[in-house]
Amino acid sequence: MNIGQGMLLPPAGRHWMGAIRLAITLLGLPFTTCTPGTRPVVLRSSYPLTRTSKHIKPAICGGYCKLYTTTIGTMASSAASHVKSRCPQYPESAVNRFPVPDDKVNWNQNWPQYNPVSYTAPAVLKKPFWADPEIGSFSPKFNTVDGAVDRTSFEGSYRVENGKPLNPFGRTGLTGRGLLGRWGPNHAADPIVTRWKVDASGAKIIHSASKKPILQFVSIKRKDCGEWAIPGGMVDPGEEVSLTLQREFSEEALNTLSLKQSEKDQMHKRIKTLFSSTGFQVYKGYVDDPRNTDNAWMETVAVNFHDEAGNSVSALPLQAGDDAGQVQWVDVDSCFALYASHSHFLELVARERKAHW
Ligand code: BGC
Repeated sequence: MNIGQGMLLPPAGRHWMGAIRLAITLLGLPFTTCTPGTRPVVLRSSYPLTRTSKHIKPAICGGYCKLYTTTIGTMASSAASHVKSRCPQYPESAVNRFPVPDDKVNWNQNWPQYNPVSYTAPAVLKKPFWADPEIGSFSPKFNTVDGAVDRTSFEGSYRVENGKPLNPFGRTGLTGRGLLGRWGPNHAADPIVTRWKVDASGAKIIHSASKKPILQFVSIKRKDCGEWAIPGGMVDPGEEVSLTLQREFSEEALNTLSLKQSEKDQMHKRIKTLFSSTGFQVYKGYVDDPRNTDNAWMETVAVNFHDEAGNSVSALPLQAGDDAGQVQWVDVDSCFALYASHSHFLELVARERKAHW
C-alpha cells in the first residue's frame, strides 16, 4: 500500500494522461439513513457543478490489460469534493486544519484572512525513497513527467504559486505535504475484484429487497486506520498502472510478499487470467482523501476485474499481507462503510453490472 508513496510512469505511457477525465463525483455525498436494499442512488447532479468531464476509452494499461469505460455523471464543485480534505484534525497527528467554509474553498475567492497551518509529517521529512525533499532544496518541474516522477494531474494543469503546486479542488486549511510524499499529485491504483454471490448449487443469490443479484468484492481491513477498503496502493516509480493493480492485489489480498519466488510465480500465473481480462475503468481522477493538503493530494485509477464464472480468483485462498490486517469477500451493499471514496467506486460497479446496491 505504501502510504504516501508517489508514482512514476514511463514516457511511453504518458499519452493518455491529461487528455483523460472520467466524469464522476467523489465524496461529499449527503448522509442518508440506510435501509438495506432500498437506499436510492444519490445522483451527483444534486451538487452545483463546476466541471464537466468527458467520457473516454483510455488505454491506461500498457501491455496485457484492456479496459472499458462507461458514461457516468459529472464532476462536483470544489466544496462538495472537499469534505474529507477539510477534516478538522489531520490524520495521524494532533494538527488542526485552519477551518475553511464551503464558500471559501475555491482559490478564486479572495480571502486575505486565510491562515493555513503548515504541516509535513516527520516520516516524510526524513526523506524516504518515496518522498520528495522540501521545496528550496530542489526544484520540481510541475505539470509534467519530471525525470522519473509523474507530476501531471488527471484533472488537467494545476496552478503553481511561490514554487508550490495548488490543490486543483481548492483550500484545505493546511499547507505542506502532511503524510503525502509528493508535492502535487500522489498517484494510486485500486483493483476492484468481484464475483457473484452464489448458493450451494452455484445459482446467483438475489437480494430480497432490490431483487438484483449480489456481487462480492475482495476487501481488506487497512492497518493504518482500521477501515475496510479496496486493496489499493501507490504506483511505484516507473511502474505501469496495470502492474500496480495486480501487484497491490497480490501483496495485500494474497500475501505474495511472504512467498518464495517460485510460489510467487505460481500465484501470478493463476491471477494473470483475471487481470488480463477486460477491466472496467470505474474512476480516474482526484480523490477527496483526508491526507490532502493545499500542496499535495491523492489521485487514483480504480478498475474492476470481474470473475464472472467464479473459477479464477474466487478459487484462490485469500490471505492478508503488507498493510492489510484482514482480507475477505464482502457483499457489495450501500450499507458497508468503506475508506475514502471506495464506497462510491463500488456503487458504480454495482450499477454497471446491474447488481444489488
Ligand atoms: C489507497 C487507495 C486510495 C487512495 C486515495 C491510497 O493510499 O491505497 O486505495 O484510493 O489512497 O484515497
